[in-house]
Amino acid sequence: MKPSSRLDRLPPYLFAELERKIAEKKAAGVDVISLGIGDPDTPTPAPVIEALALAAADPGTHRYPSNRGRPELRAAFAGFYARRFGVELDPDTEIIPALGAKECVFNLNLAFLDPDSVALAADPGYPVYTGGPLLAGSEAVLMPLVPELGFAPDLDAIDGDVAARARLLYINYPNNPTGAVVPEGLFERAVEFGREHDVLIVHDASYTETTYDGYVAPSFLETPGAKDVGVEVFSLSKGWNMTGWRTAAIVGNADAVSTYWKLKTNIDSGQFEAVQLATVRALEDGPPAEMPAIYQRRRDLVCVALREIGVDVTPPKGTIYVWAPVPDGHTSASYCQLVLEESGVVVSPGGAYGPNGEGFFRISLTIDDARLSEAVERLRGSLGG
Ligand SMILES: Cc1ncc(COP(=O)(O)O)c(C=O)c1O
Repeated sequence: MKPSSRLDRLPPYLFAELERKIAEKKAAGVDVISLGIGDPDTPTPAPVIEALALAAADPGTHRYPSNRGRPELRAAFAGFYARRFGVELDPDTEIIPALGAKECVFNLNLAFLDPDSVALAADPGYPVYTGGPLLAGSEAVLMPLVPELGFAPDLDAIDGDVAARARLLYINYPNNPTGAVVPEGLFERAVEFGREHDVLIVHDASYTETTYDGYVAPSFLETPGAKDVGVEVFSLSKGWNMTGWRTAAIVGNADAVSTYWKLKTNIDSGQFEAVQLATVRALEDGPPAEMPAIYQRRRDLVCVALREIGVDVTPPKGTIYVWAPVPDGHTSASYCQLVLEESGVVVSPGGAYGPNGEGFFRISLTIDDARLSEAVERLRGSLGG
């Protein structure tokens, strides 16, 4: 059996060594606590589950859905964007549902990239921004996120030839993995860049609803001119505790949305209509109001403990992650292994998110308070001075 050569182009899986060590620990009877993956532990809101049950009981939802999505769903996304961001969207031309942001981001690569073109991807960043272009037969050119610029990429530093070959530019704020919120002026500069180089700006808005300390994250589409050059990928996964449901949408530039739809009609057959109707309910109700306080409390617990063990961490204003520098003398991989070794706690090595993630590690806050407190106590006990 010979797999396709496109799979060979993917970089080696950087969690492999850590996963081997975790398996080893578990086999030795250690109660490993994972703060690795960002997957909300709190259930989806009850009214959304009730809406799903009701819709699933109706045989009208059991047949092939349309890739355009039900009109109620597109109207619900338009209503949410108007209320939440003050952004007007045409439900007929500027919104298509997606099976999660991951599907959407991946398929945008197939829809827009040729072998001689490139995608510009944040480094560190969500791995699909780099793996997607490779699988699409193209490649990603990394844009370092500069800590001194608030983890913004320096768009003026992008080489002219690269800019000329670029078709897509991925940005994501609040940002995974750094927890940064959008630096002032970045969205405006991205619109200019899109215009100057005929590049589709793709803003991944997976974390706009998980923010703290009173910070309210904007939509990229609030930026003047954004719809001329860009789209936003909006997901309910993190904000509504719905990672398993696979529900999101691409919104914005009508030509780009239609290109995505054209590709998608050849790949999948849309989203189960009962999930669409449950998503309508979720959008109408808005994200569960209690979540920011829950994550903020966990964030503070983690940041206080990290400071006590000598880690110089800045509490993030958004996302469900804490991003912190590894202490001197360590690489991100060696520090994550030390943490696992000494305390049985799994944290993610920053290098797994790109070369510029080296020197950092990421902690996810999606674990219940009791386990998180225990993880924090173990860190204090085993790594504290
Ligand atoms: C930046 C970013 N985009 C997209 C996703 C995937 O979201 P979804 O569950 O909607 O596919 C994640 C998940 O961790 C993410 O961090």
